[in-house]
Amino acid sequence: MVGRICGTGSSIPSKIVENDDLAKIVDTNDEWIRERTGIARRHIADTETTSSLAADAAKKALENAGMSAEEIDLILVATISSDKVFPCTACEVQKNIGAVNATCFDLGGAACSGFVFAYNTAQMYIAGGMYKNILVIGAENLSNLVDWTDRGTCILFGDGAGAAVVSAVSDGMFFASTHSDGEKGVAMECESRCQKNWKEKCQGNDTCMKMDGRAVFQFAVRKVPEVIKETLEKAGLDLQDVDYFVLHQANRRIVESVAKRLKIDVEKFPTNIEQYGNTSAASIPILLDEMNRDGRLKKGQTIVMAGFGAGLSWGATVIKW
Ligand code: COA
Repeated sequence: MVGRICGTGSSIPSKIVENDDLAKIVDTNDEWIRERTGIARRHIADTETTSSLAADAAKKALENAGMSAEEIDLILVATISSDKVFPCTACEVQKNIGAVNATCFDLGGAACSGFVFAYNTAQMYIAGGMYKNILVIGAENLSNLVDWTDRGTCILFGDGAGAAVVSAVSDGMFFASTHSDGEKGVAMECESRCQKNWKEKCQGNDTCMKMDGRAVFQFAVRKVPEVIKETLEKAGLDLQDVDYFVLHQANRRIVESVAKRLKIDVEKFPTNIEQYGNTSAASIPILLDEMNRDGRLKKGQTIVMAGFGAGLSWGATVIKW
């Protein structure tokens, strides 16, 4: 058996922070941010939490799939910004939506590759026959990890969640490639508060995200085309066979550069980064949900999803819609 996405949902915080709002707190401006990243605004969690966004996205995905919460047997949440160290966000979602028959755990640390890695994990559970209906969620509250005094990072990120119901079918398609390079992990880091002693915990911003933007940019534009080609080769498909390339939304210039390197029309690389910024593990399922609901995704299409980010980590998956 192979898993197929049979429903999607997403949830976005109501508070919108425009580029001009950020220009009031750091030395930046709307023109610079739009030109270098493609971002115009981002949504920031105010009353929402990672688990409330995840649960809301999950409910919408179940509704879209025409499935009840009781039918779900695994909830997998990809996140680097869980509300609590424990219990996991997936258990919080279970409680909220009443998925009483589900086993729940989070896939942390895969960061912006998180949704692709979680989706692959779900596929392995389905292939092994252990679970049939799996909720795969990417959910983030990155505004809690951002250093709001660092203009190099705070302009990039936003909050949100996306979910997909992946169900066992006999006619699905699944081919994937994933990679990690811990040697280069220093390019993008966020220290845990757990390793600080009690005095240090209350000081400074050293448990906020730090990033070498240029290094991450170069890594992404080199590795993403490679892993897409590697995955399509496994599937016996050509680049031209793909209807859409749904990439992690980190920077519009990264997406355009990947399209250019693959020599594929950028129209096949949908983006929504203008509205949400980089929502890490949530960006791919939010974009999928938008495309599903506005009718761009049609049964039988071939879709490539590709994630990349901290670790460093990167991966791609080819699916039939
Ligand atoms: N507003 C205005 N100026 C800014 C700025 C901001 N928000 N952030 C940086 N700058 C300045 C720098 O200080 C630098 O000034 P200098 O030339 O006087 O030293 C100049 O702009 C260029 O900085 P640089 O870092 O080289 O810009 P860049 O073109 O590489 O763009 C990023 C920076 C972060 C937008 C870009 O590197 C990027 O998107 N990288 C990938 C990051 C990412 O996607 N991470 C997540 C991956 S999952």
